[in-house]
Amino acid sequence: MKGFPSNFLWGGATSSSQLEGGWQEGGRGPTIQDVATAGSNDSPRYFTYRDAQGRPGRYPQFGGTLPDGAQYAVLPGEYYPNHDAVDFYHHYREDIALLAGMGFKVFRMSICWSRIFPRGDETEPNPEGLDFYRRVFEELRSHGIEPLVTLWHGEDPLYLVNTIGGWRSREMIDHFTRYARTVLTAYRGLVKYWLTFNELNNTVMFLDLMPPELAAAQAQDTYQQLHHKLVASARTVQLAHQIDPSFQVGCMIAYAVNYPRTCAPQDVLAAMEKDQRITHYCGDVQVRGRYPAYAGRIWRQAGVRLEATDQDREDLRRGTVDFYSFSYYSSACISAGGVREASKGNFTIGEKNPCLSYSEWGWAMDPDGLRFALNAVCSRYGLPVMVVENGLGAQDTVEPDGSIHDPYRIAYLRSHIQAMRQALDDGVDLFGYTAWGCIDEISASTGEMKKRYGFLYVDRDDAGRGTMARRKKDSYDWYRRVIASNGADLS
Ligand code: BG6
Repeated sequence: MKGFPSNFLWGGATSSSQLEGGWQEGGRGPTIQDVATAGSNDSPRYFTYRDAQGRPGRYPQFGGTLPDGAQYAVLPGEYYPNHDAVDFYHHYREDIALLAGMGFKVFRMSICWSRIFPRGDETEPNPEGLDFYRRVFEELRSHGIEPLVTLWHGEDPLYLVNTIGGWRSREMIDHFTRYARTVLTAYRGLVKYWLTFNELNNTVMFLDLMPPELAAAQAQDTYQQLHHKLVASARTVQLAHQIDPSFQVGCMIAYAVNYPRTCAPQDVLAAMEKDQRITHYCGDVQVRGRYPAYAGRIWRQAGVRLEATDQDREDLRRGTVDFYSFSYYSSACISAGGVREASKGNFTIGEKNPCLSYSEWGWAMDPDGLRFALNAVCSRYGLPVMVVENGLGAQDTVEPDGSIHDPYRIAYLRSHIQAMRQALDDGVDLFGYTAWGCIDEISASTGEMKKRYGFLYVDRDDAGRGTMARRKKDSYDWYRRVIASNGADLS
């Protein structure tokens, strides 16, 4: 069996809103993530606002929308876990040294747009924000770690959301590309690998998490917003290649593996349609430079009339990505006849698979699904691929002596690394792997702290208490050996 290529990029992944904290420091403006409360596996996160009369209100993440005339706002008495997150803002030197101790070759992180442009519409960037990320990138480089930088991981400046309705407005394309141009130029020579939008297909996946009437009412808006992001992504790819032809720019897709629940042809077709709508719609545009043929059917079924200009189409055509990256956590089953037993997943829903076991948060554990996804991407696009998120969210216990035994995490990661090795053997051009949440951080779907993915434990709880001290889990040393042996030693 083929091993991992000698220059394989081993590392871990994070996002600024889940990791960084320092939400009011260094001239940073608030983002939409700063008005999201904490939830749990059973109760949703809420977005908070003040209505036109200034009265406080909130709606559940996938169960409502902002009332007319209301503005998102931070409210007294609410708890917002992303404000301080795990305080990478003040711990980055220590954190990077710990990651270097595992032998990291690459560290995935996102830039917070509103650290660079606090409102989002300024013409001049915030020097303190630029300086923060420069220091982080220099620190990474001093340890021989390659930064992999996501330009957008959901950190829309709140000012733009409140004033122009965020991505509903075409103006966002110009604001985003001004920000992208600024950071691509500023960090030339420090950063080589870039991702435009994290899990861009989430935009439409969220529709499936809403009550059907709300989803139907949101469809037009959602596909139009996604179109604006696709154009912004394509313009960013073009800009990146103009600024530095050696930049490598990737798309980033939440890869939802959908198995037909039975061999009934109707189930197979239902899974195919879901794949097209949820998994491939964005990647097809970002890799091939045009909407796929099946997009017409999706728009018709959803009652969507997409507004796209000739210039948009030209930008999509010219702004195709250099590589394909994706997150993979679990798979689901799809059947034409409705859901018998629902399964959860990374912003996805489906049916439970009787052949698989499930995590504490109800996500299927399916390493074969990763091999399946890697092969599917390889044969669909023939591009180099990177797995930029994968991992197990689980509760950890700190023993009286301070040790943290996480064999469940090691077992999950081991089986997925084995699946990558099989995919390499299948001929997939896989060049890197960044395990999600290498440092414990705030869960995106639930806002919890106790849903932990890290090799490094952070002393912080769901109420925001704790010292923020970092501790190595057993998986820290295990991953160090995996990297040192270039994936050969998984014991
Ligand atoms: C992906 C995101 O959705 O999955 C991350 O890109 C997120 O931001 C990760 O944290 C894991 O999901 P969760 O909900 O367990 O944090």
